[in-house]
Amino acid sequence: MKLFDVYPINDITITRGEGSYVWDDHGNRYCDFYGGHAVISIGHTHPHYVAAIKQQLDNIGFYSNSIRIPLQQQLADRLAAVSGKQDYQLFLCNSGAEANENAMKLASFHTGRKKIVAFSGAFHGRTSLAVSATDNPSISAPVNITENIVFLPFNDEERLSAYFRTNGQDIAGVIVEGIQGVGGIIEATPSFLQTIRSLCDEYGAVFIADSVQCGYGRTGKFFSHDHAGIQADIYSMAKGMGNGFPIGGILIAPHIQAKYGMLGTTFGGNHLACAAAIAVLEVMEKERLIKNTETIGNYLTTQLKSIDALQHVRGRGLMIGFDVPEQYKTLRKTLLDDYRIFTGEAKPSVIRLLPALNISRTEADLLLHAIRTVISEIQNNQNK
Ligand SMILES: Cc1ncc(COP(=O)(O)O)c(C=O)c1O
Repeated sequence: MKLFDVYPINDITITRGEGSYVWDDHGNRYCDFYGGHAVISIGHTHPHYVAAIKQQLDNIGFYSNSIRIPLQQQLADRLAAVSGKQDYQLFLCNSGAEANENAMKLASFHTGRKKIVAFSGAFHGRTSLAVSATDNPSISAPVNITENIVFLPFNDEERLSAYFRTNGQDIAGVIVEGIQGVGGIIEATPSFLQTIRSLCDEYGAVFIADSVQCGYGRTGKFFSHDHAGIQADIYSMAKGMGNGFPIGGILIAPHIQAKYGMLGTTFGGNHLACAAAIAVLEVMEKERLIKNTETIGNYLTTQLKSIDALQHVRGRGLMIGFDVPEQYKTLRKTLLDDYRIFTGEAKPSVIRLLPALNISRTEADLLLHAIRTVISEIQNNQNK
């Protein structure tokens, strides 16, 4: 049977990982500044995480949400402590798209309204509502096209306020990434997020903070929206939550009330997924990873800014992006082929760095040295 061919891939087979390094089937070691697309939060095969999953598997891997699963409450308690959202409620699912799908559905249930505001450059996933709220028509099927999602320009407070003035009574929610990831590491300004908060308050709409990529400690605070000093009504989470074990969820503000049947899932919140997610939070706390994210992130950003060839170095913590001018367009491929360093990209010419949150100065310096060397090699070749 053939695999359904939807991914352009690198011709590399990874067979082993440890910390911020992975090895291919020929024994070559790679440094991972991509984190499997912002998923690896505590490093590959962290011993505490591996032990927790193995132990849980020996006890029980899965039973459905029709019985008590105390691990879910343990996870909720840890999340409350680490995120600071003590009075929020937790609903567990399996992926980022599913988290956003549930968030938007819940906003509509809660308000009895239909319209969701999303923004230019947004990526929210590939399921029905999530892909409709994603600003990329090429990944939306005809069936996904709906008048219920309205796109407005990102970071444009005036257009948003004007839209609320004329349509406020129809708006169920506003969904926004604190830092757009797929869109190229573009940060929502604090005043834009504050405006969303006050408009949602004024018109009774639900503020949905898509934290699937920019959340879970990646930017030096638990949610990147926290940098703006606001509280969202719903936070969606996935990627770093399970360090590779599929798990997603939404944190829901106390004024939004649950009703039986409103949301549901077969696999969401299963024993094994909870064990993985609890282990991730334990490591994050014990190893003070949010602090490390800030420290190493600041170091990397400062150093990258000192490299003239790179343009618009931006981001927060360990969610960093920069533009690569045309003359250096081979940089990302050379880093992978010659220096064995994985990085992420965003179209058309952005390199994204999304490493594990426990990356150290050693890995940061390895990357910086490789970038500087590749750039000077390109410059030397061009001057010949
Ligand atoms: C901001 C954001 N939201 C949602 C998603 C979708 O997550 P998943 O691929 O787990 O469905 C992504 C994935 O890249 C994302 O970056």
